[in-house]
Order: sequence, then C-alpha cells, then structure tokens
Amino acid sequence: MIRMSLGAFEEMKQYLGFGEADAANLAALADLVVPQLPRVVARFYQEVNAHPETRAVLSGGPAQAEALRRKLSEWLRGLFSGRYDAEYCRERAQVGRTHVRVGLPQHYMFAAMEVIWQELRAIIAGLPGCDQEAKLAALHKLLTIETGLMLESYRESYTAQVRQVERDAMWARLREAEQLAQIGQLAASLAHEIKNPLAGISGAIQVIRANLKQTDPHWPVLGEVLRQINRLDRSVKDLLVFARPKPPQYQWCDLPRAIERVLDLLRKEPEFERIRFEYSLPRDLPPIAADEHQLEQLLMNLLLNAAQASAPGGLVRLSVAARDGGVRIVVQDRGCGMSADVLRRTFEPFFTTKARGTGLGLPICRKIVEAHGGKIAIASEPGAGTEVAVDLLQHPPRADAGVLDEHSRADR
Ligand code: HEM
Ligand SMILES: Nc1ncnc2c1ncn2[C@@H]1O[C@H](COP(=O)(O)OP(=O)(O)O)[C@@H](O)[C@H]1O
Ligand SMILES: [Mg+2]
Repeated sequence: MIRMSLGAFEEMKQYLGFGEADAANLAALADLVVPQLPRVVARFYQEVNAHPETRAVLSGGPAQAEALRRKLSEWLRGLFSGRYDAEYCRERAQVGRTHVRVGLPQHYMFAAMEVIWQELRAIIAGLPGCDQEAKLAALHKLLTIETGLMLESYRESYTAQVRQVERDAMWARLREAEQLAQIGQLAASLAHEIKNPLAGISGAIQVIRANLKQTDPHWPVLGEVLRQINRLDRSVKDLLVFARPKPPQYQWCDLPRAIERVLDLLRKEPEFERIRFEYSLPRDLPPIAADEHQLEQLLMNLLLNAAQASAPGGLVRLSVAARDGGVRIVVQDRGCGMSADVLRRTFEPFFTTKARGTGLGLPICRKIVEAHGGKIAIASEPGAGTEVAVDLLQHPPRADAGVLDEHSRADR
C-alpha cells in the first residue's frame, strides 16, 4: 500500500515537474510563512464549522478540535520543510487514510485544499522579497500532489471495500451451495429409506380394500389413506429427483397421451377436484423428442401449483401449441398470484409459502426444462393469477439420435 503511494507520489512530482528548485523555493519561505500559519488554521476551521457535512465529521468535541488544529499546523509547516522524499510521502499518505476512517467525504479534499491555497497565496503575496511567481508555482504543485495522495487513500479504501463485498458474496454462495448439497444428500437417503416401505404399505392397503365391499364404511377411509400415501410418495420422489437428477431419456413423445396420464392422476387429488379445468390441444401437434416421464412430472407440478393457488371453482387452463421448431405449454390460473418477493424466489430450492410444501416443484421444473434445452418463464400478479410458459424444442440439441429411431416413435 505504502509502495503504491510512493510510486504515485514520484509519478506526480515528475508529471508536474516538481524538482529541486521548487523544494528550495518552498524551504526559503518557511521562516516567513510559519509565523502566519494560525491565520490559515483559523480560516480552515471556520469553513469546517460553517458547513453541516464537515461539522458532522468533527464529533469528538473541543478536545478533538484542538488536537486537529495542532495536527493541521504541523502539516502546514511540513509543506515548507524542503524535503519531499519517501518519508514525507509515508507521513502524508497516512493523513488521507485518517480522513477515510473518520468518514470525510472525498470531495472536501478539493474544497479544503483550495481554502488552504487561498490563504497561503494571500500570505505569500504580502511577503517582501522576490520571485513570488516561482514560489507560488512550487506551492501550487505541491498542494496538487498532496490532493492526489489524499485521494489515493480513498481509492485504496474503495478497492478494499469492493474486494470485501466480493469476498462476502463468494462465501455466502459457497455456504449456500454446501448447505444445499448437505440437505440434498440427507434428503436423498431419507427418501430412499421411505420409498420402499411406502410402496409396501400402499400395496397392502389396496389388497385389503379389494376385499371390502364399496358399501363398507371402511372403504372411503382406505381411499383417503391411499391418497395420503400418494402425496407422501410424490414428496419423496420430488426430493429424490431434486437430489439426484437424471439426464433426460429421450424418446418421441406423444404429448396428448402424457397429458391424459397426468390428468388421470390429478383427478384423484382433492385440490384438483375443487377447481374447473380446461384444456386445449391443436390437432396437428408435432411429436417432440423428450423424456416423457419428466414431462409428466413437469405438467404435474405446474398443474398442482395452479390448483393449489386457486379458490374453489377457480379456472385452471392448460394449452399446448406448436411454435417455431417446438411446442409451447402454458398453464394459467386465476388464483392468488405472487408478490414480487415470492416471484423472485420461486425457483429457489426449498422455498415454499405452503404449510406442507416442499419448495421443490418449480426448481425441478426448471431443471427438467433446462435439461431439455428449453425455457420456462413465470408471469404473475397478486390477486389476478399466474401464467407459466414452457418452451420446448422439437429436437433438443442433446437428444441422442440413436434412441430416437422409428421404433421408439411407435411406443415408449
Ligand atoms: C485538505 C485539507 C486537510 C488537511 C491537510 C488535513 C490534515 C489533517 C491531518 C494532518 C490530520 C491528522 C492525521 C493523523 O493523525 O493520521 C487530520 C485528521 C483529521 N481531519 Fe483533516 N485535513 C484536511 C481536511 C479535513 C476536513 C475538510 C475535515 C472535515 C471535518 C477534516 C477532519 C479531520 C478529522 C476528523 C481527523 C481525525 C481526527 C482524529 O484522529 O480523531 N480534515 N487532518
Ligand atoms: N401458480 C402459482 N400461483 C401462486 N403462487 C405460486 C404458483 N406456483 C408456485 N407458486 C409459489 O411458488 C412457491 C414454490 O413453488 P414450488 O417450487 O412448486 O413449491 P411448493 O409448491 O412445494 O411450495 C409456492 O410455495 C408458491 O408460493
Ligand atoms: Mg409445487
């Protein structure tokens, strides 16, 4: 830091042509000017006190003001010392750092230096003797160099602040990524533990229910148990998919068929029973190369979100349309919508506003869409509703041509 200041100091001296003659001229002024320095100090503090922003920096009371007067006098005397070497530079650079530390706004360096210049110039102009032009020129150069040194401290401090902000941001990102990885691992092993017993329980209940008459009072109870198991199973699968995403297994997908399968599952959901559902499909929809299972998961998440956001009887609409080189799937609802804050965070893993949400639905949707080389966009307005648009290419760049032969086009 000091070395950089010294470099800048020497550079400025050269730039302005501040040399031995200037040093000698200033040293020659010392005896005549020093007795008059109190006048400069007085004017300096008069200005500092007259302006609220500078007065505010002087928070230390009369003791601080007195100490400052002394330090400023010394500093002024230093201008006429005649030795403008590395030691001089080191001392003077420290002053700038003090100003940064006390929070003096940088532009006052110019204003305050100008006040010092005006006072010293008036003093020198009133002195007897010759060659005042050269003496004034030397002083002016030195004050310019001093201003440069002071500003150098502000730049140092600004650079240090920017670095600190960057470091903080990097650490925050790292911590977040580590946390996510840990949560993901934990979730994945837990989900794995739960998945198999859950399938067993579901199978057993189905067997028991198959032996009951539909009029049996236990019939609807077991139906509800199965629905709850389904819900659990979905959360567990979400966790697994999120923690261990699989690359898409491409095949030629029949979108209408995939949609039907999703609707079969959804119609059993209480949230979906409450709403009105409309959907439109053009007749000539092209097949697209995609992972059909992942597409179903995508549609499921979007439609469930839409249903969950809707009031009873609310309308949820799904529309699919061919669109240059692919298809656009749009899920629309007239539900609660999202505030700007929620909208900004919806794709954040584990972010949820629901009592029993996982916060993984949309992050999974985004992973799926991006793995397919597509785009997902959400528009939402609080109280008015939400529209999620997914654009998929008919043939994503990474789809494996070998799998997409005519055989797989026939069936999945
Ligand atoms: C360009 C003109 C200025 C010069 C030459 C100057 C000079 C000095 C010097 C020599 C010091 C002591 C540095 C140290 O101990 O490290 C100092 C400190 C300080 N100056 Fe200045 N100063 C200037 C402008 C200002 C202005 C405009 C303010 C406005 C309030 C100000 C407020 C202070 C304060 C608060 C301190 C620190 C006092 C402490 O250590 O508590 N300075 N200044
Ligand atoms: N259609 C929608 N309408 C209103 N808010 C939504 C909609 N879809 C998602 N959100 C908001 O985004 C959050 C995250 O959604 P998601 O990732 O699917 O997780 P989850 O549904 O488990 O909460 C939801 O909790 C909700 O606040
Ligand atoms: Mg969801």
